[in-house]
Amino acid sequence: MNNRKFSAVYPGSFDPPTNGHLDIITRASRLFPNIIVAVTDNVNKRHIFTLQERIDLLKKSTENLESVEVLSFSGLLADYLEKINSFVLIRGLRALSDFEYEFQMALMNRKLNKKIETIFLTPDQSYTFLSSSMVKEIAMLGGSTRDFVPKCVELELKKRFGNR
Ligand code: COA
Repeated sequence: MNNRKFSAVYPGSFDPPTNGHLDIITRASRLFPNIIVAVTDNVNKRHIFTLQERIDLLKKSTENLESVEVLSFSGLLADYLEKINSFVLIRGLRALSDFEYEFQMALMNRKLNKKIETIFLTPDQSYTFLSSSMVKEIAMLGGSTRDFVPKCVELELKKRFGNR
C-alpha cells in the first residue's frame, strides 16, 4: 500500500452524499494535499444506495477536485487507517448536538489506534440542518432535493422515487 501519510481521510456512509458533505470535502482539500473519502456500510443503518452506487455518486460529485480520491472500506475505521498508513481523520461538526457523539468517536478511534488524530471542520451555515436521512425522506415523499444534493444525486433520487 502507498504511503498515505499526507492524506486525510473523510469517512462516512454517504447515503446519499449531500452538499454538506461536499462542503466539508472542499474545505478539507484546501488544507491537505490529498483527501480520501472513505465510504462504508454503517452497520446501524439501512442504506438505499449500494456501496458502489454511493462511491460512483461521490466520484462524480468530486470530479472537479483533483486531490480527492473516493475509496471504500469495511470493518473498523481504525484498522483501515493503519492499513493505508494515514492517521488524520476529518469529521464535520454541524451543530453543538453533533459534539458529544463526535467526541466519543474521536476518543474511541484514538483508543483503538493511538496514532489517529481527528480534525473537525464546520460546514457552511446553510448546511447545518442537512442530513442524508432528511434528504431521503424528502425524496421518498415526492419533494425536491435540488437545494440539498449534487445534480447527479438529485437525478438518481428522481429516478428512484419520481420526485419533483
Ligand atoms: N453535511 C450534511 N450531512 C452531514 C454532514 C455534513 N457536513 N456531516 C454528517 N452528516 C450527516 C450524515 O449524512 C449522516 O446522516 P444520516 O444519519 O441521516 O445518514 C449523519 O449526519 C451522521 O453522519 P456520520 O456520523 O458521518 O454517520 P455515517 O453513517 O455517515 O458515518 C462512520 C459513520 C461510517 C464514520 C462510522 O460509523 C464508522 O467509523 N464506521 C466504521 C466502523 C467503526 O470503526 N466503528 C467504531 C467507530 S469509533
